[in-house]
Amino acid sequence: MNKKKKGIFIVIEGIDGSGKTTLSYLLKDYLTKKGFDVVQLKEPTDSYWGKKIKEIQLNGRGKIRPEEELNLFMEDRKFDIEKNIIPNLKKGKIVILDRYFYSTIAYQGALGLNYKWIKKINEESFPLPDIVIYLKIDPKKGLKRITKNRGDEPQQAYEKVEYLEKVKRIFDDLAKKDKRIKTVEADTPIEKVFEESVKIISKIL
Ligand code: TYD
Repeated sequence: MNKKKKGIFIVIEGIDGSGKTTLSYLLKDYLTKKGFDVVQLKEPTDSYWGKKIKEIQLNGRGKIRPEEELNLFMEDRKFDIEKNIIPNLKKGKIVILDRYFYSTIAYQGALGLNYKWIKKINEESFPLPDIVIYLKIDPKKGLKRITKNRGDEPQQAYEKVEYLEKVKRIFDDLAKKDKRIKTVEADTPIEKVFEESVKIISKIL
């Protein structure tokens, strides 16, 4: 896979309800107004694999094994990298990506797969971002936000408190060890999360 790039690759990570999507929109707006050429993307995508993932999200895991689930996210990412991310970076754009392989390490790691191995295969297969903003929040608070904002019930496969506690522990561990990952406390008004994130991003612009 061609890893050469010249744009800026920003990833936003965190558990469900941490505010990633809202932050991505705000950052896109802010950077566009500053005159940068910005694309906002998300994973999972709406590829063939992304659609299979959506089914799991809505209907639960059923008999799908963790390895198969991991494979779906990896295939979806391969598609995203080739079709969206690399071409945009090559054009010199800023890519803001809502979830990347850190989500795979944390979420599929929380299913019991060895997360150090998931990290290794992802880092070997896909380009590293320039920076990762990790929105840190307690899962109970995140889930409360989801119910309040979306007005619906948390989704079956991914949005259970005990599972998200495990996911968060892996995110926290990754953030401690990886200099690329900048932690932003997300249990605060979005304006503050945005301000903090702008400070972090400004350093690499
Ligand atoms: P997302 O699209 O962010 O959720 P929503 O549709 O509610 O906006 O992500 C869907 C779920 O997929 C989310 O709970 C996290 C999970 N996920 C993984 O388990 N592994 C991954 O590699 C990625 C990218 C997401």
